[in-house]
Amino acid sequence: MRNETNINELEAQRQREIMNRLKVRFTQKSRELGRPLTYCSICFGCQMNAKDSEKLEGILETIGYVKTDSEDADFIIMNTCTVRENANLRVYGRLGQLKKYKKKNPDMLIALCGCMMQESLVVEKIKQSYRHVDIIFGTHNVFKLAELIENKLNTKGMVIDIWEGTSEIVEDLPSDRKYDFKCGVNIMFGCNNFCSYCIVPYVRGRERSRKPEDIIKEIEALVKDGVAEVMLLGQNVNSYGKNLEHPITFSQLLERIEQIEGLKRIRFMTSHPKDLSDELIAVMAKSKKICKHLHLPMQSGSTKVLSDMNRRYTKEDYLALVDKIKTAIPDISLTTDIIVGFPTETEEDFKDTLDVVRKVRFDSAFTFIYSKRTGTPAADMEFQATEEEIKDRFDCLLKEVQEIAKETCGRDQGKIMEVLVEGLDEQDENLLTGRLSNNLLVHFPGDPSLIGTFQNVKLTEAKGFYYIGTLM
Ligand code: SAH
Ligand code: SF4
Ligand code: F3S
Repeated sequence: MRNETNINELEAQRQREIMNRLKVRFTQKSRELGRPLTYCSICFGCQMNAKDSEKLEGILETIGYVKTDSEDADFIIMNTCTVRENANLRVYGRLGQLKKYKKKNPDMLIALCGCMMQESLVVEKIKQSYRHVDIIFGTHNVFKLAELIENKLNTKGMVIDIWEGTSEIVEDLPSDRKYDFKCGVNIMFGCNNFCSYCIVPYVRGRERSRKPEDIIKEIEALVKDGVAEVMLLGQNVNSYGKNLEHPITFSQLLERIEQIEGLKRIRFMTSHPKDLSDELIAVMAKSKKICKHLHLPMQSGSTKVLSDMNRRYTKEDYLALVDKIKTAIPDISLTTDIIVGFPTETEEDFKDTLDVVRKVRFDSAFTFIYSKRTGTPAADMEFQATEEEIKDRFDCLLKEVQEIAKETCGRDQGKIMEVLVEGLDEQDENLLTGRLSNNLLVHFPGDPSLIGTFQNVKLTEAKGFYYIGTLM
């Protein structure tokens, strides 16, 4: 373990040296051009990817690039997702569009990274058909971006560096945070669950937990820097710590984080129902900082389908777990993910899903039509329903989920509750947007100087998925 730490520290040091060299080189280049060098960061997928993009942006800013939203930039970094087929198609679409910018600016560099790049067929396709790409890397070597850029500047061809997996966690590299007052913090990487439909374990590798000391140190530094809310990130946070040299549970980690002075709110995602312990429920119930929100993906309400999905809980287990949570934490907001049209799902199975949705009454649910991922066990299963039947089920579920969410979300109308003010309302610049502990948004009139502060707001009007409020 000691050795591993030393290797990682050396690696971080080496990367910082490369960043220094590049900074000199790019400062010179920018002077010649008489303008700053710009980068555009495009990110698809989940919060893990968003967090990785913050790290990539931190490296790009350190070596002298300035951020722009325009794709007419000197450096494009596209962080990809492959969880469903749609995600892939969007990447190819965007890549096609980039060609015209590169024609105009031949010095432009295009880098692709993220989950899609961990699939060899994808990389082959890009090598063949998207020759304007300069750098390809994957999910395990995000920390190497500076080195890959330096390699690219010293060679003519495409630079490709994909790792099959890693046990390395390189700490202490720059990161460019999107918000001053809240921040995602990785607590673990990878996934060992192998749900039969899911590509994530193949592209993100085996589960690896960061040491609690490193996590605490990072959060303490963030708090010193003005962060009031952290989101702890992992594909299955409930199994945090199992593979550490000194194992600790997720609940124990939460208790340690709770003690960090100045930190106001703690969120986390995602929780796998099979690993959600009584200890965690108890810690959440008594905590002053852990938010009243739990994202608990159910995927399906049918015990048979859940078994085929390799989720390792039954319909009854899920319902019993929800009961236990609601009893211990009555004001909790529950959200979920549901897949419709898993190959073995029949009409009866779908009715079980509807049944669970009606019983639990989620605050919101992300619903997905099953998407076949080559290489996963479900890809070889035979479909029990036609595309049209699946589409009908999806529409039916969506309607149900939305009707219930509208009622559930409105339950606090009239109450005064605390929000963290996150910014201006996207629709109406005269309003501010704040987030409740239970993750719902409140829009209310107020001065932009309140952004980043906690305020008490009266929830005057429930609007379905958000509230209109007044500042107290
Ligand atoms: N680790 C998280 C989820 C990561 S992926 C968990 O276990 O809950 C986010 C969501 O995408 C999943 O919860 C699932 O609902 C959906 N998903 C994953 N693979 C999918 C597929 N092949 N087709 C459709 N939806 C999928
Ligand atoms: Fe995918 Fe299942 Fe792992 Fe979530 S727990 S990332 S759904 S394999
Ligand atoms: Fe997508 Fe990778 Fe996240 S496949 S959902 S970006 S872990």
